[in-house]
Amino acid sequence: MDHPLIQHKISILRNETTGTNEFRKLVEEIARLEGYEALRDLPLEYEETKTPITTTLTPYIAGKKLCLVPILRAGLGMVEGLLSLCPTAKVGFIGMYRDEETKIPHEYYCKIPSPIEQRTIVCLDPMLATGGSACDAIEDIKKRGGKKIKFLCIIAAPEGLRKVTKEHPDVTFYVGHLDEKLNDNAYIVPGLGDAGDRIYGTK
Ligand code: PRP
Ligand code: URA
Repeated sequence: MDHPLIQHKISILRNETTGTNEFRKLVEEIARLEGYEALRDLPLEYEETKTPITTTLTPYIAGKKLCLVPILRAGLGMVEGLLSLCPTAKVGFIGMYRDEETKIPHEYYCKIPSPIEQRTIVCLDPMLATGGSACDAIEDIKKRGGKKIKFLCIIAAPEGLRKVTKEHPDVTFYVGHLDEKLNDNAYIVPGLGDAGDRIYGTK
């Protein structure tokens, strides 16, 4: 997403001297900006509204609305940004961590609102590295009946983006910045380090 505000904020996120408080606020702000763009195709329906002057047909968001699904932990940092746009959205959670040796994701928690079939699902995770976590999370959402899925990340590696778009061509991916590559440790280069640790001040 080439919006200058998003690019500027991502640069501050990357800076190793950016502290936890500022990092957390920026993740939320970037999520809000990405969400604004990603929700541009939400369907509208017209209802009568009485203004102080007259009665007229005006547009409202139609039908069963949204479900946000952050991938824990780092995806949690994006939730408030989206909720500030859509305060009535339901929120599900998928808990996942990458094994530090194998880099394979392991799911430890999943709670998705039901029924989910009619909702637009917005999956949130700031980092898409090998793409393993995103693929597993999307598969899980689909198994539970999820159909219309969007995935928002802040930084992606080309390797990971290739994998997820190949395995889930029906999902729309919104990427704040596409970085150069993964390093030998499957971290994104130049990236921003470990997003979860930087949002929550852990090491
Ligand atoms: C990070 C990140 C993604 C995942 C991306 O989570 O938030 O979920 O790694 O890597 P992948 O594309 O190679 O699967 P991490 O495992 O560090 O867990 P955390 O959010 O709890 O810190
Ligand atoms: N997870 C992160 O938080 N950062 C990376 O660069 C890769 C995976």
